[in-house]
Amino acid sequence: MKTSTAIAVLLFNIATLAATARAQTGAAAAIPHLEKRGVTTQLIVDGQPWLILGGETANTASSSLDYMKPVWPRLARLNLNTVLVGVAWDWVEPVEGKFDFALVDGLLAQARENKLRVVFIWFASWKNGLSSFAPVWVKADQARFPRARLKDGRPVEVLTPLSDANREADARAYVAFMRHLREVDGKKHTVLMIQMQNEVGLLGDSRDRSPTADEIFAKPVPAALTDYLQKNKSTLLPEIASVWQAAGAKTTGTWAEVFGATPAADELFMAWHYARYMDRLTELGKAEYPIPVFTNTWIVQPEDKGPGDYPSGGPEPLTLEVWRAGAPHIDLNCPDIYLPNFTEWVARFHRNGNPLFVPESRGDAGGVANAFYAIGQHASIGYSPFGIDNTGRLVVLRPDLGASAPTDLENLPLAKGYSILKQLTPLILEHQAKGTIAAVSLDTKHQTEDVALGNYTLNLDLRRNRRNPSQVPPLGYAMIFSLGPDEYLVAGCDVQVIFSPRNSTTDIAGLASVEAGTFVDGRWVPGRKLSGDDVLLNYDQAAAAAAGQSGSGLRFGPDGPALQRVKLYLYH
Ligand code: DGJ
Repeated sequence: MKTSTAIAVLLFNIATLAATARAQTGAAAAIPHLEKRGVTTQLIVDGQPWLILGGETANTASSSLDYMKPVWPRLARLNLNTVLVGVAWDWVEPVEGKFDFALVDGLLAQARENKLRVVFIWFASWKNGLSSFAPVWVKADQARFPRARLKDGRPVEVLTPLSDANREADARAYVAFMRHLREVDGKKHTVLMIQMQNEVGLLGDSRDRSPTADEIFAKPVPAALTDYLQKNKSTLLPEIASVWQAAGAKTTGTWAEVFGATPAADELFMAWHYARYMDRLTELGKAEYPIPVFTNTWIVQPEDKGPGDYPSGGPEPLTLEVWRAGAPHIDLNCPDIYLPNFTEWVARFHRNGNPLFVPESRGDAGGVANAFYAIGQHASIGYSPFGIDNTGRLVVLRPDLGASAPTDLENLPLAKGYSILKQLTPLILEHQAKGTIAAVSLDTKHQTEDVALGNYTLNLDLRRNRRNPSQVPPLGYAMIFSLGPDEYLVAGCDVQVIFSPRNSTTDIAGLASVEAGTFVDGRWVPGRKLSGDDVLLNYDQAAAAAAGQSGSGLRFGPDGPALQRVKLYLYH
């Protein structure tokens, strides 16, 4: 190489290195945010996608640093990387205009000491529909801070979302909080996201019945909402589309005219006003420090007869479009799921571009199945069982899932499940973006499921007793990665897996190799080579051959999730 060329190459390399370093510093300096990566949206922290292996503490746990001090190390031992903790308006502005963020600073210091990240929950105007966490100077001054009223005209301890005074008072406190977070955490990024209020909506009636509310309800639906419905007509979620269409799909009119004189109109009216209120806070808060903001929802329970039995106006499947139209600064609307049909509920929230996060659910063995399912099947940005500071909640919440769980932290189902998810995190994030990941959650009512992924269909079944195939465990789950044309990684517990080629009716899938193993620093470290009894599912070779199967597949035992990597070949 000529000297001049060598110098040019050297200068080019130096420039490239400098640009890369700048880009990396820039990426690392960027505050936590959501970003579209491939086919999904991910939470980006310090320049890298982040999977929340979370847990939420009891509502008031974070009001005491002494209480929290021993909690953080326990949560780290459970393999959490992020903790959802409450910050109440009352705790930071007990006297109007006098802010005290010492508690917030203490929580951040404790989290950092334990290498944990935080999502703060802004418990302010509403918590589970009620206004219990508002400061007493707000609660006691009903003339200045009006309450919602129910059918009989009685007030409840619920600030109405229809009041500018309520909204602006909450907003002043929230803005101060977000400004403080920018000042103390703008570089360290311990705080990843904010949950705006908690399970909002009116309990006890389908809408606020105060004279002000009656007056606004009788006025036209704001054009911003009817325009949204009109503009998004072809993609509207079916729940609101059918209510709107049943009332004639009008583009102007009062709430009862546009949505019909039913409780659904009341619920949509409340949703619009909660959304506008919370959007204003979010917008002002983001002007100080624009990290992602989400809501959480108390979802409709099977016994509920109508809005008001569940909080009326929260982001439910019926109202999600109203929340999108009314609260564009809120990044995602998330469900709290304690119902057994978890898989259906996550699907109802993971629609129309709403990224999924599960801020509250269970933390026992069933919770691990939920986490695997939400993250693997719906690209959830994470999972977070509620009451994580109370180990008892992590043992067993449903007796049908087995009662004799261990109580030592590292052996709790959640700790073992999160340990595997922690190992898999780089792979999960990569495959979520590529769309080459799937998951199933099985129980005795839903024992088997086919998943088409890559070149094969995987039949996932609860692990069957080989002598008595109708004998199955109460639950099983698996997360599946398509690694190549004939290669899969499966993380599973109490499931068995049979592979069939998708593009042939004559070929049978055989196991070329199966390895147990672990991931260390993102690299597969093989353990045992599995064969024989490890993979035998069906000795009845005639029946297996008739079904186009080899009778062998993957088999995962009950002892927490484990990993198996399989290569397949075809024969006929
Ligand atoms: C759901 C709420 O969002 C939480 O704050 C807490 O009250 C739990 N329910 C209690 O199970």
